[in-house]
Amino acid sequence: MNPVIIVIVVTVIHKGWSTALSMWWKYEGFAGPDRWGEFWSMCRDGKQQSPININPEELLYDPNLKHLEINPEHNINVNGILENTENDITFRLDDIAEQQMNITQGPLSYVYRITELKLHYGSEDSIGSEHHIGGRSFPAELQIMGYNADLYRNFTEAMSGNKGLAIISVLIDIGDEINRAFDVFKRKFNSISQLRSQTKIHAFSIKGLLPPVETNYITYEGSLTQPGCQETATWIIYNKPVYFAQQQLLDLRAIVNQNWFHSNARRTMPLNQRVVRTNINFRKKSRLCTMEREMRYQVNSLFQK
Ligand SMILES: *[C@@H]1O[C@H](CO)[C@@H](O)[C@H](O)[C@H]1NC(C)=O
Ligand SMILES: *[C@@H]1O[C@H](CO)[C@@H](O)[C@H](O)[C@H]1NC(C)=O
Repeated sequence: MNPVIIVIVVTVIHKGWSTALSMWWKYEGFAGPDRWGEFWSMCRDGKQQSPININPEELLYDPNLKHLEINPEHNINVNGILENTENDITFRLDDIAEQQMNITQGPLSYVYRITELKLHYGSEDSIGSEHHIGGRSFPAELQIMGYNADLYRNFTEAMSGNKGLAIISVLIDIGDEINRAFDVFKRKFNSISQLRSQTKIHAFSIKGLLPPVETNYITYEGSLTQPGCQETATWIIYNKPVYFAQQQLLDLRAIVNQNWFHSNARRTMPLNQRVVRTNINFRKKSRLCTMEREMRYQVNSLFQK
């Protein structure tokens, strides 16, 4: 019998089916990403999977892409729960109206409500982020997940629905200064040293973990990077990293009971004809890769008829 099946059967006896399914997958070893497809077929058969490697030479400049908006415009501090899920560190916002934060505009046609943040990182600086830029990975990646609040009632429902999710990706690099927002998490790391342990977080600033509002971004249609790999996510990747002090990354790596040794990043997936768009205007560069010319052509041909 296949070792994955044995683990599932044993876990089911102890914990019930849905907990078993959500717990068996890992980032390394016999339950690693190459086996996810045995239970979640999209992880194996999907053609629009995430993460991807972003090749700066192949970005398409789209002049229709507006700036991303995160409302309210002013900074608010939110409360929630920080959890050691064993596969990552997840922060879940409390579900109350006073701390509602929405992602809109940019490439999005709907309003997406932020519900959780996930941290992906590695055992050393050269690995950790899920998305790669020009073949390079960053020491960590923060993913801010929102669900489509116009069409769905909650994250779970939106996860499998058309245009269900928007995920903002912030690549983390090492800088000289301490990131104050992240320090609010860091002070609680001691409380999440047990498997699946949780702790309350007060007054956390999501905007403190974002680059400046006017920062450009890259966007494409992809999937969740964990099982079931549903292809319902519009990804928005900021064009500038956010900096953590080296010590902050060391503190993150020191959290015990994470079920991986190297990193909790899924490997990058094939692009398969998808377009990766950006609002970075490369006009001044010699290798112009833009939709502008083609759009003008379309407009002209309509008017000339
Ligand atoms: C977020 O979006 C919802 C639904 O569209 C809306 O009711 C709410 O007022 C928005 N909140 C903010 C802070 O913009
Ligand atoms: C999400 O919404 C669905 C449909 O209304 C409901 O059945 C489910 O319990 C909700 N899940 C959560 C986690 O609230």
